[in-house]
Amino acid sequence: MKTVYRENYCNAEALEIREREIPVPGENEILVKMKASTVNRTDEGCLLGKPYIFRFFVGYPKPRYHATGTDFSGEVVGKGKSVEKFNIGQVVFGFLDHGLGTHAEYVCIDISKPVFLKPKNISHAQAAAAMEGAHYAFNFINKVKIEAGTKVFVNGATGAIGNAAVQMLNAMGAEVSFTYPTDSYEKISHLKAVKKIDYKKEDFTELSEQYDFVFDAVGKSSFGKCKKLLKEKGVYISSELGPGGENIPLAILGLFQSGKKVIFPFPGSPKHSIPHIISLLEKGDFVPLIDCTYPITEIKEAFKYMLSGEKRGNVVIEF
Ligand SMILES: NC(=O)c1ccc[n+]([C@@H]2O[C@H](COP(=O)([O-])OP(=O)(O)OC[C@H]3O[C@@H](n4cnc5c(N)ncnc54)[C@H](OP(=O)(O)O)[C@@H]3O)[C@@H](O)[C@H]2O)c1
Repeated sequence: MKTVYRENYCNAEALEIREREIPVPGENEILVKMKASTVNRTDEGCLLGKPYIFRFFVGYPKPRYHATGTDFSGEVVGKGKSVEKFNIGQVVFGFLDHGLGTHAEYVCIDISKPVFLKPKNISHAQAAAAMEGAHYAFNFINKVKIEAGTKVFVNGATGAIGNAAVQMLNAMGAEVSFTYPTDSYEKISHLKAVKKIDYKKEDFTELSEQYDFVFDAVGKSSFGKCKKLLKEKGVYISSELGPGGENIPLAILGLFQSGKKVIFPFPGSPKHSIPHIISLLEKGDFVPLIDCTYPITEIKEAFKYMLSGEKRGNVVIEF
């Protein structure tokens, strides 16, 4: 079988495709024949081992897995003797922010990891693309009380996180506005929104409206710039640490503030986010945005494209 291989934290150019034996599942493992995965921003951290502190989660001093890959969709083709939860022939998908080594044709996955049956109404590519961005979107949104009519601004509706966030917020009845890049209007034209702002032509922070929640899903703005967009008790959350890492101290300060504040969104386990994502997928309330697809043999090109910062939604890997 083919697998992506690296010995150490490295850049995309150092990734190799190697041939190795199909692994044998351990007692609590299923053997999954991979059909799709993605190359996402969490893979970026697992590939580069950056920020450095991330290495304590994904393997120190070397990566835990030789293969990259955090998400997957595929078929169970083998299982260990203690596995009762899954059967051979079932179609499963999952995600782990600390990596699963899923950029390989066959992978053994411990069933204590976040693995679920794939909804029947979506393809393998959609299943893999429904994981990483939606997991973070769920975890960032659930830090704020959202109800019908809550006014939310999402910066970056063409990111994997932002695109999932807009759809989740719409499903919750929020009044959503968002930004997008000029040449990607067709990717987001179907999404319901009060306002859709081309970020290359208009600065959303100059809007006169005020919002209960500003979610900077691409982490390109700051609390300072967005403050005037917030209502008196409005909340700002970013997917990034902000200029000079300011979002952490601002969030600590926010614990003692009742007015406009920053919340730092520590993500929870995918075991909690994925069941929610499944229910949205089954109802058709969430359709992940797929930008393009690469075969596993072109993993370097897939990583380089994702690292360019230009992807729209998700970059899928096909096996
Ligand atoms: N905190 C966490 O645990 C965590 C986990 C995963 C990811 N992240 C971070 O979350 C961020 C988003 O990741 P992602 O995968 O969802 O998306 P992404 O790949 O960073 O998003 C790319 C898209 O965002 C657009 N974009 C770039 N700058 C923009 C701006 N100023 N305003 C509006 N849109 C803009 C790009 O358009 P153009 O091509 O026109 O630039 C492109 O369509 C990344 O910075 C990532 O590092 C954080």
